[in-house]
Amino acid sequence: MKLPKSVEIIEVGPRDGLQNEPQPITTEQKKELIARLAKAGYGRIETTAFVHPKWVPQMSDAEEIAKYCNELGINYIALTPNVRGLQRAIEAGAPQVAVFIGASTAFNEKNINKSTKDSLLECEAVFDMAKQHGKFIRAYISMSFTCPYQGDVSFDEVNFVCERFVKLGADEVDIGDTNGHANPKIVYDRFSRLRDLYPDTVFVGHFHDTWKMSLANTLAAMQAGVEKFDTSIGGLGGCPYSPGATGNVATEDVLRMLSEMGIDTGLQFDEVTRLAPFAKSLSTRV
Ligand code: HMG
Ligand code: MG
Repeated sequence: MKLPKSVEIIEVGPRDGLQNEPQPITTEQKKELIARLAKAGYGRIETTAFVHPKWVPQMSDAEEIAKYCNELGINYIALTPNVRGLQRAIEAGAPQVAVFIGASTAFNEKNINKSTKDSLLECEAVFDMAKQHGKFIRAYISMSFTCPYQGDVSFDEVNFVCERFVKLGADEVDIGDTNGHANPKIVYDRFSRLRDLYPDTVFVGHFHDTWKMSLANTLAAMQAGVEKFDTSIGGLGGCPYSPGATGNVATEDVLRMLSEMGIDTGLQFDEVTRLAPFAKSLSTRV
């Protein structure tokens, strides 16, 4: 079996994990989660989103969370859907930013009020400004396998966005199974084709667990050469614009699988496992 010696786990619990929670989670609770995660040894944590508070109220404290992350001195990623979001992230001092576009236009219209082509135009401006400010840019392609509004998503639709992201100079391209309906075969095929087309690009796997295949999908992506994965502590998560989708693959499950297979992550397994019940206690969905 072809496996990497080490893998980077990027914790997305504070952002993807909490964004869809219907009940208010206080800023203090979010800070506690982030501080405890920071102690477990993550190189990067996706902690907040500079999105419109009207659309995603749970992320309305993005400025305060960024300020806290700066005080902790951690390396964190903030979601920036447009130029306005990026301006807020720059002012708040976020070191890494994440843009996101769906491979399906139907999803983009729901998620960010724009078609795929218009989203890409806005993205160019975001890339330009982020580069001027020396930001590391993570570029998400959501709905890279299936979409709740259109059904199957073709490889060409994913590649249409990926090609633009690579040309714009993304530091990493994050392939999202937002819907959580992908299976190991399509994951292996899609990542293998992307890696053949863009051998110098760093790809990240981002799997939601709706159909309970996210661990299998993680393994399939590793077989295709992927060495970076987004996970969420306690399996929290979901996207407000992906109805029915459940949380991300649980960090503790991925860590157990990787450590049993002798793959290093640099994370403290016991610390992470101890944190999962606290993370779950913040959620009404897991
Ligand atoms: P919009 O309403 O279409 O924006 O929102 P607009 O450009 O028409 O502007 C309207 C007003 O909003 C203006 O204010 C703007 O300044 C303001 P006014 O002039 O009327 O006073 N505005 C903002 N305010 C604060 N922050 C901003 C911002 N932008 C405009 N960033 C927008 C467009 C994209 C902002 C909105 O649709 C939005 O916030 N959507 C939320 C999308 C979201 O957070 N989705 C979930 C994350 S994606 C995900 O979960 C998938 C992922 O995990 C990967 C995977 O699983 O595949 C990443
Ligand atoms: Mg997600």
